[in-house]
Amino acid sequence: MYIDHHPILENHGNDQISFFYDGTPLKARQGQTIAAALMMNNIRKFGISRKLRQSRGLFCASGRCCSCFVTVNGLEHVLSCTTLIEEGMEIKPNTGDPDVRGGIHEN
Ligand code: FES
Repeated sequence: MYIDHHPILENHGNDQISFFYDGTPLKARQGQTIAAALMMNNIRKFGISRKLRQSRGLFCASGRCCSCFVTVNGLEHVLSCTTLIEEGMEIKPNTGDPDVRGGIHEN
């Protein structure tokens, strides 16, 4: 669902852009966040938690909970609820943490 017209909020128009999610080409609207674009394409699972291996996705939608991490153009741990979608973005689900512990801690 998408609100096309609102009596108070600015209309961002209907400009469509293309992006890729896990290699699949999808469409979004200019001005949407990555999370909104994924939800509009019926993608609810944005990744899995590192420790408990549980599904993660949109939770607070305000940049506070870190449940909506995705990988964008190779950059890991991007908050999808506060980052705007851009033409040609390559988004991948977040499936774990980068190896920042130098092999001391095994997943
Ligand atoms: S959904 Fe909570 S930080 Fe994005």
